[in-house]
Amino acid sequence: MHRIAIFASGSGSNARNILQYFRNNPSYQISLIVTNRNTAGVIAHANEFEVPVVYAPASQFKDCPEHILSKLLEYRIDFIVLAGFLLKMPDLVVAAFKGRMVNIHPSLLPAFGGPGMYGDKVHEAVIESKSSESGITIHHVNEHYDEGEVIFQAKTPVFNSDNAVSLRVKVQQLEQKWFPVIIEQVLKKTFSKDADPDIH
Ligand code: GAR
Repeated sequence: MHRIAIFASGSGSNARNILQYFRNNPSYQISLIVTNRNTAGVIAHANEFEVPVVYAPASQFKDCPEHILSKLLEYRIDFIVLAGFLLKMPDLVVAAFKGRMVNIHPSLLPAFGGPGMYGDKVHEAVIESKSSESGITIHHVNEHYDEGEVIFQAKTPVFNSDNAVSLRVKVQQLEQKWFPVIIEQVLKKTFSKDADPDIH
């Protein structure tokens, strides 16, 4: 059984979808939710699925990353999913989970990524730029914001009639459809050597 932590800052619709998808999975368990906002919607989802929550404010991520890492070790976490997590992950944690941390971003990276680009800010920028398409990017996390290796992208057209809200709805549909499936693929690939000692 591999133990996964989800980091989320907001309403947690992705986190909820992932909790639902992996419920009763014999190989992978969502074992911890970490949030930097003690009012985040994700906390209610964690309670519903009876998954423990660690609250760590932004100051702790910045000034005391050892604390975050020690919590992950305490809960014996093998893999991290960032699902609407809006802080930069400390280098210490990135290094400890190299190749074992993925993020979802609501645009086709490298377009509309980087510090300050999250949630509706991304959709507003896409609309403003008059791009004809947007979508989602699921990528590995490295020490640079939104720059880790891309694992998967899915596109949606952007019409003249779209605004940030209608675009958000289309992007959320892609997130709901793809994120858990792609996470499971990455988990299988990452831990396949553990599962079958004959595969090298
Ligand atoms: C999602 O759209 C996710 O792609 C985005 O935040 C939203 C969180 O929604 N992430 C970023 O912008 C990361 N830079 P949720 O809390 O309902 O899952």
